[in-house]
Amino acid sequence: MQVNFPSEFLWGAAISSYQTEGGNSNTDWCLWEKEKKITLCDRASNHYKFFREDFKLAKELNLKSLRISLEWARIFPQKGEFSSEALKHYKESIVILNSLGIKPFVTLHHFTNPIWFSDLGGWTLSENIDYFLEYLKKVVNEFKSDVEYWLIINEPMVYLFNGYVSGIWPPGMQSVNIAKKVLDNLTNAYCQGYKEIKNIYKEAGLECNVSFAKHIRKFSPCPRLNFGQNYISASFRDKIFNIDLLDYLSGKSCLDFIAVNYYCKEYVKFNGIIGSECLHQNHKEHKNYLNWYIYPHGFYEFLKRFEKYKLPIFITENGTAERDDSLYEKYLLSHLKSVARAFSEGIDIKGYSWWSLIDNFEWDKGFGPRFGLIEIDYGNFKRKIKPFAHTYAKICRDNRVTI
Ligand code: BGC
Repeated sequence: MQVNFPSEFLWGAAISSYQTEGGNSNTDWCLWEKEKKITLCDRASNHYKFFREDFKLAKELNLKSLRISLEWARIFPQKGEFSSEALKHYKESIVILNSLGIKPFVTLHHFTNPIWFSDLGGWTLSENIDYFLEYLKKVVNEFKSDVEYWLIINEPMVYLFNGYVSGIWPPGMQSVNIAKKVLDNLTNAYCQGYKEIKNIYKEAGLECNVSFAKHIRKFSPCPRLNFGQNYISASFRDKIFNIDLLDYLSGKSCLDFIAVNYYCKEYVKFNGIIGSECLHQNHKEHKNYLNWYIYPHGFYEFLKRFEKYKLPIFITENGTAERDDSLYEKYLLSHLKSVARAFSEGIDIKGYSWWSLIDNFEWDKGFGPRFGLIEIDYGNFKRKIKPFAHTYAKICRDNRVTI
C-alpha cells in the first residue's frame, strides 16, 4: 500500500553546529577533548566554510527543511559580548535556506556551552539561566523574520544523563543531586525561553512554533532471567527518560509541537529500579556501528503514544551509522514505514528529518560513525552523495512511502 503525504509535509535532514562547523574552540566540548585527550573535533566537517555547498546539496536531495543549530559560544564569545561576524554568518545561512525553499528549523542549544558559561558554573546554577536567555533574545530578534520553527534545547535528558549522571560528557559530573538541579534549570530556561520567543514574535506581528527535541528510546525488559524485575526497570526508564518531561511541559502549555528524535531500542536489566543496559548476545535485533539495537516498530509505537498530546509531531532526528553501506537504505525504509503507518492511521505528523545531512563528529565516539546522507572525506572535505540518499531524495520528491 502507498501512503501519500500532503504537499506541505516537510521532508528534511538535521545537523548541529559543533558536530559539523569546525573551529568551535571556545566551547566546553573542545576543552574537554583536549583535557581528556580524546579525538579532537577540530575542523569537523568544515561546514562553517562549506555551508553554501552543503545547502545546495540539500536542495539537490529535494529536502524541504533543514534543522541547524547556532553555536552560542561563537555568537557570545565572552560574557555579555556578541560577535557581529557570527550573527552575519548565521543570518546568511538562514537566508540561503529560505531562498532555496528549505525551511530552517533552528536549535539554540545542542549539547555545547561557551567556556565562560561553564566557568561560571554552567547549568548547575539558576542565576546563569539569564545568560542563556540573553543569547536567545539576541538571536530570536535578529532572525525572527526568517525563522518559523525554533527548538530551544536538544535532548535535555541525554545532555543531563551524559554530563551529570554517567559523566562521559562535559562537565563530567556524576551526581544525581546536581543532575536534578540541572534539570530544573534547563526546564526553567526552556519555559522562560518559550515565553520570550512567543512575545518577540507577537510584538512583531509574526507567528512561530517552539519546542525542544526529545530523544526517545524504546526500553525493553531483557527477556532472560528475572523478567518481572527487568520489566519494572524498563518501565521506570521509559517514564523518566521518555515521558515525564513531555508530560510536564505539555501540561504547562509551552510546547507548540512534539519534536521526536528516535534511533533505537535498549534492553534493560534490573540493577536497582533505574536498571542498566543489557547487551546480552541473544538479543535478536541487528546492532549498528554503535551497538544500538535497531527496532523500527518502536518508532511507530511512540508516534501512536504521542497522539495523547494533541499536538503536531515533527520527527527532528532519525538515522543510523552502519558498517555496511547497504544497511542505510534498509534502516531508512523500515523507519519510514513506521512513520507512514502512523500517519495513515491519523497521527498528525508534519515532517521527518534524517540525522544527518552530512557525516560529522559523533561526540565521544569521534569520526568513526557515519550518519550522513552525504559522505565527507575528512582528508580534503570533499562531499559525495551516498547511494541511499538518492532513495530518500525520491521519497522527498514523490511525497510517497510504500508500506
Ligand atoms: C543527537 C546528535 C547525535 C545523534 C546520533 C542525537 O541524540 O542529537 O547530536 O549525533 O543523536 O548519536
